[in-house]
Amino acid sequence: MKINNKKILLSGVAPTGNLTIGNYIGALKNWSQMQAHYDCLFIVVDMHSITVRQDPSTLRERSISFAAQYLASGIDPEQSIIFIQSNVPAHAELAWILNCFTNVGELNRMTQFKDKARKYSSNVNAGLYVYPVLMAADILLYQANIVPIGDDQRQHLELTRNIASRFNNLYGKVFQIPEAYISRAGARIMSLLNPERKMDKSDLNSNNYIALLDEPSVVLKKIRQAVTDSGREIKANKTKLGISNLLTIYSCLSGIPIAKLEEQFKDENYAGFKKELAELIIETLRPIQNRYKKLIGDKEYILTILKQGAEKASERAERTLKEVRERIGFVPLITKIQ
Ligand code: TRP
Repeated sequence: MKINNKKILLSGVAPTGNLTIGNYIGALKNWSQMQAHYDCLFIVVDMHSITVRQDPSTLRERSISFAAQYLASGIDPEQSIIFIQSNVPAHAELAWILNCFTNVGELNRMTQFKDKARKYSSNVNAGLYVYPVLMAADILLYQANIVPIGDDQRQHLELTRNIASRFNNLYGKVFQIPEAYISRAGARIMSLLNPERKMDKSDLNSNNYIALLDEPSVVLKKIRQAVTDSGREIKANKTKLGISNLLTIYSCLSGIPIAKLEEQFKDENYAGFKKELAELIIETLRPIQNRYKKLIGDKEYILTILKQGAEKASERAERTLKEVRERIGFVPLITKIQ
């Protein structure tokens, strides 16, 4: 199902919290660079979001806002398919079928489920448990070859590959077995106040992250507050997680290797380095925020893009689903029962 011989690339982000510079560096920035080389699908995975309680109007607004932020970060709807997961019901349908090809033993091993079950202990619902199967459906529906993900999603991709192989072994080759693509640089942008933890867009304390839509004064304040160690050297190493993280952000946004930055800032103190980093972030976000403001002011346009995206995605998803239904023995819709 490759188009123009390009490999199919697919990724998604759940609309919870606020997209951060971690998402930008680890995902959005790379996605826009990959568009020319791959046949891309980018999804706002709202069905994943409801594994945790969401306020309905916030979820709706945020799904559209995330799509606008994808576009503002450089996703080109002429080149790539961008859509909202719940607009393509095939995801739910394939997820159900794949649930029947997933062992509970496999799901019990998912570390993200264990973490989330602890974090949301008052609402450990079945959706949270089968979350990775819905992700497998997202990927397998479109015969994706390459799936850019963060390090924390490695286990989910491995599960996807196992489910796909199991299905193919039983019914013949229906699914492409996808490969994970984990970018080295920026795969792990850490929290600003707690650099042992990954920067999390749903962090309750917004001082832990820089949001893509943060105003310049907010960026400056958050970077100023970011934890550093008691030393004074601008150097990356394992005992200086805070400064190492800030250097990583600087390096990913500027394209300058960390070793060069250490040299460039060798006579600078933490405060001076932070000021320059804040400026770099502000300048990086400025054009994205400007594009975002224009887009979000024109909801009709965004909804049109999303409608077209959902239509293109549905067409492809249906092709896979038709094959799946047939192979497992479901009665075709247009069979004349006489
Ligand atoms: N589970 C992913 C995350 O938490 C989001 C996701 C859902 C996804 N479906 C996907 C990522 C398909 C890549 C491909 O980051």
